[in-house]
Amino acid sequence: MDGLPGFGQAIMRSMSEYEIRTLDPAEHRAAADLFRGTLHLKDLTDEEAERGRGSYQPGRSIGAFDGELVGTLRSLDAELTVPGGRRVPLAGVTSVGVRSDRTRRGLMTELMRAQFADFAERGVVAATLYASEGLIYSRFGYGISTLSKSYSINTRRAQLHDGVPASGEITRLPLETALEQLPKLYEAMPHTRAGMMTRTSYWWAGFGQMCRQSDDPMITVVHRGEDGPDGFAVYSVRRRWPDPAVLSIEALEYTNPGAFAGLWRYLLGVDLVDEIRTLFRPVDEPAELLLTDPRQCTVTRYEEECWTRLVDVEAALAARTYTGPPLVLEVVDAFLPANSGRYRIGEDGVARTDEPAALRLDVVALAMLYFGARQASALATAGRVEVLEPGAAEAADLLFSTRVAAWCGTFF
Ligand SMILES: CC(C)(COP(=O)(O)OP(=O)(O)OC[C@H]1O[C@@H](n2cnc3c(N)ncnc32)[C@H](O)[C@@H]1OP(=O)(O)O)[C@@H](O)C(=O)NCCC(=O)NCCS
Repeated sequence: MDGLPGFGQAIMRSMSEYEIRTLDPAEHRAAADLFRGTLHLKDLTDEEAERGRGSYQPGRSIGAFDGELVGTLRSLDAELTVPGGRRVPLAGVTSVGVRSDRTRRGLMTELMRAQFADFAERGVVAATLYASEGLIYSRFGYGISTLSKSYSINTRRAQLHDGVPASGEITRLPLETALEQLPKLYEAMPHTRAGMMTRTSYWWAGFGQMCRQSDDPMITVVHRGEDGPDGFAVYSVRRRWPDPAVLSIEALEYTNPGAFAGLWRYLLGVDLVDEIRTLFRPVDEPAELLLTDPRQCTVTRYEEECWTRLVDVEAALAARTYTGPPLVLEVVDAFLPANSGRYRIGEDGVARTDEPAALRLDVVALAMLYFGARQASALATAGRVEVLEPGAAEAADLLFSTRVAAWCGTFF
């Protein structure tokens, strides 16, 4: 695999009978089909494969072979916004799958090891993923880092209250125009929450594939405020008489209250719709407060969104901001032991230290704390943080506190 970017010799290790190596771009389709098979989905047709071309970033897919490909995972490069607003190098990990006749013999573990070796070589600070199951990833140091809610609005009864801000202009775009314009629009929008990530052409290629393959047409509307485009929504409507007609929101991005209100004003006014459904929204998104009767908005799920692995704990801790007096944390990292140690964390920065620790926690609990998804005192109550000094959990609550809820919002 000479010449592929990003991978050194570390990746060329093999278990006794399996070869673990970077995939050549010519092998990406086989990897996609293998992964789809692990999700019980059919292979891609030529047409579907063509629609998704460009979604696999070269040099970022790894395969496990025993003569043929039997396991795979991949990642997308991105930048992650951390509390305080700085951005750090991120790997968006996805398409993790091992063929069903080769599971539970350590293949995913070897693929993960190879991937972390690559991350270390490239200076990746954190890795994030959406997990299919809750028991898979904490053994590798991933912890639930952002939470989300899904909600539904009864559009037949919902009405905006009089104080909802006046809105700008909504323009509907044809799909191909939208797929051309949205990347630039998203790039120009500030990240309003920690946990948000940049989207490369590889991510947009996957999004385009999903939109083009949707059974119901994907519709894009852009909101323009006084200073130009400041929000957009992508949605589809499913009408199957006699069932209620459901508008499903695929994307909803906005940078200010006017855009939030303008997009909802439009969405609530779409004809021939009985219900609007959202998935994986920020836990503090105040959609119900736009309505005269907040009960017309129902939270249907409250759950994890992303799992994050702090690959370089020192760099990750140093990148975010803090509030209040400093604390020493002892971090335990069984899978990447170089991260283990004590860190003095404060408003003036982060450094490794020999001072005694006030709290001890593993890297999984640290990921839960890092974006403010969970408080140290709650983690202590659940036995996930060890309190070594009285009052340290409450001090850590303040130290890691964030103003708005963290949220990723970029599904991959
Ligand atoms: C999840 C998956 C990739 C695991 O691959 P694998 O090669 O069997 O994993 P490993 O053999 O390296 O397992 C390592 C450990 O994780 C555990 N584990 C793996 N998958 C698990 C799962 N789905 N649930 C619970 N534990 C799991 C194994 O039991 C093993 O535990 P041990 O070390 O105590 O023995 C594979 O089962 C798969 O392809 N599943 C379907 C697709 C999927 O869900 N992919 C994830 C998308 S986010």
